[in-house]
Amino acid sequence: MAMTTTTTTTFFHSLLPSNSYKTGSVSSSFVSVPSSSSSSLQFRSLVSDTKSIYGRMKFTGNIRRVSVTVSAAASAEPLTVLVTGAGGRTGQIVYKKLKERSDQFVARGLVRTKESKEKIGGEDEVFVGDIRDSAAIAPAIQGIDALVILTSAVPKMKPGFDPSKGERPEFYFEDGAYPEQVDWIGQKNQIDAAKAAGVKQIVLVGSMGGTNINNPLNKIGNANILVWKRKAEQYLADSGIPYTIIRAGGLQDKEGGIRELIVGKDDEILETEMRTIARADVAEVCVQALQLEEAKFKALDLASKPEGTGTPTKDFKALFAQVTARVIG
Ligand SMILES: NC(=O)c1ccc[n+]([C@@H]2O[C@H](COP(=O)([O-])OP(=O)(O)OC[C@H]3O[C@@H](n4cnc5c(N)ncnc54)[C@H](OP(=O)(O)O)[C@@H]3O)[C@@H](O)[C@H]2O)c1
Repeated sequence: MAMTTTTTTTFFHSLLPSNSYKTGSVSSSFVSVPSSSSSSLQFRSLVSDTKSIYGRMKFTGNIRRVSVTVSAAASAEPLTVLVTGAGGRTGQIVYKKLKERSDQFVARGLVRTKESKEKIGGEDEVFVGDIRDSAAIAPAIQGIDALVILTSAVPKMKPGFDPSKGERPEFYFEDGAYPEQVDWIGQKNQIDAAKAAGVKQIVLVGSMGGTNINNPLNKIGNANILVWKRKAEQYLADSGIPYTIIRAGGLQDKEGGIRELIVGKDDEILETEMRTIARADVAEVCVQALQLEEAKFKALDLASKPEGTGTPTKDFKALFAQVTARVIG
């Protein structure tokens, strides 16, 4: 029985995680060859479209196992990834990491203003648009493979605060820039645009604390920021697009890669002493999520052990594998 090229191609296809086309190579695999008295088998790997590998074998007898070694000399296109909030403190780091890994990613950024664009280098790949306006963000989303959402309503401090008098600062949101408009409508606009554009994955950074309506963050400007963030998270989970929702603990501008990361669910981490995480670590988790199947369809709380305790996290596949929460509540 002759085996068609298509059949064998499908075999390789099923062996590979979807991202392998982008980055990897197949070192070896086995094909089971059907019995034939004297057949000729032609096989072809589509690991690389441009460097297809052909082979021809003769064999006889019953089912045979044939070891095939395939080296994909050239990997396929890098993933084109848009980071929104690319002028923000975590967004900047994600954008930079993607640019540094240019063999794996083509980085795009979306910022709200021209000033933010200049702040991160002013390159052509940085689009300017307000996420509250669907039409304004469409060009940035067109043609991307994956989206990392790092936009958020940002509270402002009321003037006149004097720490020397032992006062506590007060915060407010500007008109039109409340969490309802930014963290709900703005994120929803991005998810809708991504879906329409056929985007294959969305990583969304949110915040721990959302299980408690009385969390102090909800009191800022009486704006229920965590409620609106959770609404957007649920909308993403319901969208059908493969997602990773990262609910970070208190963000710190510290060096990344030197602490053991902790994942959890339902704000259980908030009951411990490990409630913070470096923005650089959140950024790395975002980038890793783009490359690992284990990260897809998951929502996780994220914090870290204090520096000097535990073992710095290097195995992100294992980290995501610990997360079991596929649906969010
Ligand atoms: N702060 C914490 O301790 C903490 C804890 C847990 C989770 N988080 C969450 O983690 C995420 C990252 O936090 P971060 O502190 O790194 O962020 P950030 O610096 O506050 O950045 C937020 C970004 O959103 C952009 N943005 C706001 N409104 C926009 C709009 N209408 N259109 C387009 N862009 C808009 C801002 O742009 P501009 O720069 O132009 O204003 C800014 O770059 C956020 O979702 C945050 O809520 C924060």
